[in-house]
Amino acid sequence: MQAFRIQGGTPLTGQLAVDGSKNAALPLMAASLLSPEPVLLHGVPPLADVNNMVNLLGELGVQVERQDRDMKLSVVDESRLHARYDIVKTMRASICTLGPMLARRGEARISMPGGCAIGDRPVDLHLRGLEAMGADITLEGGDIIARAKRLKGTTIFLGGPFGSTVLGTANIMSAAVLAEGVTIIESAACEPEIADLARLLNAMGACISGAGTPRVTIKGVDELHSTEHHVLPDRIVAGTLAIGAALSKGDVQLLDFPWDHLLALTHLLQEIGVTVERVDPNEPCDRCTVRVAAEGAFNPVLFTTQPYPGFPTDLQAQLMALLCLARGNSIVTEKIYPDRFMHVPELNRMGAKLVRQGPTVVVQGVPELIGAPVMASDLRGSASLILAGIAARGETIVSRVYHVDRGYFRLEEQLNALGAQIQRVDSESGEVIGGVPCVVTRPLSLEAPTIATAH
Ligand code: EPU
Repeated sequence: MQAFRIQGGTPLTGQLAVDGSKNAALPLMAASLLSPEPVLLHGVPPLADVNNMVNLLGELGVQVERQDRDMKLSVVDESRLHARYDIVKTMRASICTLGPMLARRGEARISMPGGCAIGDRPVDLHLRGLEAMGADITLEGGDIIARAKRLKGTTIFLGGPFGSTVLGTANIMSAAVLAEGVTIIESAACEPEIADLARLLNAMGACISGAGTPRVTIKGVDELHSTEHHVLPDRIVAGTLAIGAALSKGDVQLLDFPWDHLLALTHLLQEIGVTVERVDPNEPCDRCTVRVAAEGAFNPVLFTTQPYPGFPTDLQAQLMALLCLARGNSIVTEKIYPDRFMHVPELNRMGAKLVRQGPTVVVQGVPELIGAPVMASDLRGSASLILAGIAARGETIVSRVYHVDRGYFRLEEQLNALGAQIQRVDSESGEVIGGVPCVVTRPLSLEAPTIATAH
């Protein structure tokens, strides 16, 4: 296994561009199942989760060609219906192939995703939505088996005990584009990734309105066609880098920053005493240059994670790392995944003073964090430990960084480009490991598929 060896204490400075969004790219890739013609995506980050989705789509008869961050997805075999457990268990987002498969092929067999490190993650709302559209759903040998000759439009309330569901909305919206009649999703997730998916589907010939609001209306069509699409910038990567710049008392310019999608974070950072400003007000606010700089003491704050446009659960751990160094007590409440706190005991190993009570953590600010060996156990928790390591005095070893590779492309290289001192090492031997080269083929077009990389 691999670990990061971090020498702390260097402020981050310089410029860095934000990559395309993982959580947008995964459902966009799954949407290729809906069309007999190819879909070309630009700005797909070369991450472990994206590779997992490529493997899964390969199993489901989709040929994938890649060049750097361009990806062409072409359905070549619609008889493949089974998403097996050994692929699904590597990535919960596999569930977003269910709606497209059912809508286009009339049948899908997808292994039921299990729990994961951040807690219980049921898919009951996905299934309830598809059943409301006429799907017959059974569970056999741990697999969800869904069948429907043609799904029928209806009104679906998709709210659950923790609010809306992001991938549930993606699944139902994708299924409804080929259904007979009109589907209305009430209490739909409003996340920018949903609006991005609707943009792709509409460009493929779907008829969706209201995506990005709690009511989405989808008028079914008979067939979708080919298109090209640019994946939106990753708001969680942007937020992580912004928090890193602040936490290290640095001064960084982030390019392609999705300002409009991160207001919950930028407002909070300003309250904490961090300078966060757009560099050129004429740039589009979903992709602009933002300066993040900090000096002096941080103010403590209260925050609660919420569905968009509230504060994202995917940035809770990273902001908590920063609040460890605030002057005073902060309170963090997790309303989406009440158990998403695996980073808490690890931050305490670095000298933080965190006390958890149920879904709330009291963060008592300390003057400094001290480097220590710590263990990552989920994606965003790992990012939090890495940021804490950059700010800490001395050396921090973050083990099991395969978690962070699921959602950040070579995070150590990105942070090192801003002056951090991070080495990727073998956990056993301590030897330094170089980066893995990107898969490069050749320029891609929307012509018939030529080479296969997915199987
Ligand atoms: N929920 C249910 N029933 C369902 C679905 C969800 O009760 O059928 C609950 C969940 O247990 C949770 C809440 O509803 O308490 C919200 O879950 P949601 O379905 O919105 O999560 P998701 O769609 O599975 C996506 C992201 C997560 C992110 C959440 C919340 C992707 C691939 N994943 O998951 O991202 O935390 O939305 O914003 O888009 C990450 O990137 O680190 C990550 C975990």
